[in-house]
Amino acid sequence: MTPQQSILIVQTPGVVRANLAAALRAEGLRVSEADDLLAGGRLLSEEAPDGLVTEIRLADGTGAELIARAAAREDAPVIVALADKPETRETVVALRSGALDVLERPCAPERVLATLQPALLERARRMHRKKNEARAGTPQRPSIVGESPAIKHVLEQVARAAAAVDTTVLIQGDSGTGKELVARAIHCDGRRGERPFMAINCAALNESLLEAELFGYEKGAFTGAMGTGRKGLFEAADGGTVFLDEIGEMSAGLQAKLLRVLQENSFKRVGGTSDVAVDIRIIAATNRDLWEEVLSSRFRKDLYFRLNVLPVRMPTLVERREDIAPMAQHFLEHFARALRKPVQGLSAEARRMLEEHTWPGNVRELRNVCEYAVIVCDGVQVEPRHLALAEPVPMEKATPVAPVENNTTLALRDRTLRSMEVELIRVVLEETRFNIARASRELGINRSTLYNKMKDYGLCREERRELKVGV
Ligand SMILES: Nc1ncnc2c1ncn2[C@@H]1O[C@H](COP(=O)(O)OP(=O)(O)O)[C@@H](O)[C@H]1O
Ligand SMILES: [Mg+2]
Repeated sequence: MTPQQSILIVQTPGVVRANLAAALRAEGLRVSEADDLLAGGRLLSEEAPDGLVTEIRLADGTGAELIARAAAREDAPVIVALADKPETRETVVALRSGALDVLERPCAPERVLATLQPALLERARRMHRKKNEARAGTPQRPSIVGESPAIKHVLEQVARAAAAVDTTVLIQGDSGTGKELVARAIHCDGRRGERPFMAINCAALNESLLEAELFGYEKGAFTGAMGTGRKGLFEAADGGTVFLDEIGEMSAGLQAKLLRVLQENSFKRVGGTSDVAVDIRIIAATNRDLWEEVLSSRFRKDLYFRLNVLPVRMPTLVERREDIAPMAQHFLEHFARALRKPVQGLSAEARRMLEEHTWPGNVRELRNVCEYAVIVCDGVQVEPRHLALAEPVPMEKATPVAPVENNTTLALRDRTLRSMEVELIRVVLEETRFNIARASRELGINRSTLYNKMKDYGLCREERRELKVGV
C-alpha cells in the first residue's frame, strides 16, 4: 500500500482553488493550500509534499522561484505550474526550473489530475525503490568503474578520505578524468553523506560573483543585491561538503578568505559584520599542477598545504587502458537502457579502436563516444563505423581530397547533423512562440526530450539569467 500522497496548492484563494482542492481530495490526496510565495515556501519545507501545483504569477513574486526550490529538493515533488498564457518566457523558465508541465488557465481540475497522477505514481515507485536500496545497504553514490591498479589506488584514497570526515581533500587530474565523480563518492561514503553536497566551478564566475555565491551577502551589500540578502554555498552546505572545482583559478583575495574559512570554520557574509560559523568539509579540484602555481606565486602556499591534506591524483584514461573496455561496456549499457536501444556491447574491432585512441577528453570523451554509438547503432553490437573518434585536425590538412567513409567523416557528419538539429529546433520554437507542447508535437519528440535539447543547446527566448551557478 502506498501511503496517502500530499499535494501543495499555491494559488490566489478563491473558488477556482477550492474546486481544485476538492477534486484532489476526492481522489484520496491530502491537500494543503497557500496563498502566495512566502506561505508556499514555508509549507514546502514543513510538509515536503509529493506534488506541487503552483500558479506562475503569485501576489508576492514568481512561482518559478518556488518551482526551482522544490525541484532542488532531494525528495523533489511532482510539479505542475498554471499560467495564463502558456507560450511565455515564464513558461520556459518554469520548465527549465523543473516543472513537469505548464497548464493554461482556466484549467479544469481533471486536467491537473490527469497530469499529476501518472507522475505521482512513478515518483512513489522511485521513492520505494530508493528506500529498499538504502535498506539493502546499497549506497546512493556514483559507481566508479575500473579494475586497473591506477583506479584501485584511487578507490583506496576515496575510502581513506571518506573515513576522515573533516579533512580537506585536493583532487588533481586532467579534465574528464572523474574528479567530480570521486568528490561525490567521498562525500557519499562518509558521515556527511546524508547532508548536502554543493559544487561550484571557481572559473565560471568573476571574483565578486564567486565571493557572493560562496559567502552569501547581506541586504544592500552591493548594488543589485536582492532585498533580503542571501545565504552562500558555505551556509547552504552546512553539515555537508563544498566542492570547489578549478580551485587554481581562484583570485588571490578569495584565496585569503578561503584560508580563513579553513582555519576558523567561520566567515563573514559580503557586507556583513558578524561571523557565521559553519561545519563543512572542503574538497577542491584542479586540472593544473597546483604546486607549479605555488612556485610561480599564483597560488598561496599556505592555502596549498591546507588543501592538500589528503591528495588524490586522477589517472588519465590512457594511463589505465585496461579500464577502457569495461567502462565502454558500462556506458553502452547505460545509454542502451536510457534510449531503449538493443545495443549490448562492442565488436572486437570496435574495442581495439577504443583501446588505441588517445582520449584527450578522458572518461568524459569516452562517455560521449558511447552515447553517440548507441544513438546511431541499431544492432546489438557497436562496430567501428558507429564510433565518432575525432582527432583534432591541423588546419592545413583540413580539406579532404576525396571523401572517405571513416570515423573522422562520421564525426564531421555528426557535427553537421547536430547543427541542423539545433537550427530546426530553433525555428520550430520560434514559430510556435516557445509553446513547448506544440513544438514537441511538430518535432515528433516528447516534451522532456525537447526540454533537454533546449537546455543542451542553450535555446531559450529570454537572455540567460545571471548568477546561475553550476551546482
Ligand atoms: N571511473 C568512472 N566510472 C564511471 N564513470 C566515470 C568514471 N570517471 C568519470 N566518469 C564519468 O565521466 C564524466 C566526467 O567525469 P567528471 O567527474 O565530471 O570529470 P572531471 O571533474 O575530472 O572533469 C562524468 O560523466 C562521470 O560520471
Ligand atoms: Mg569537472
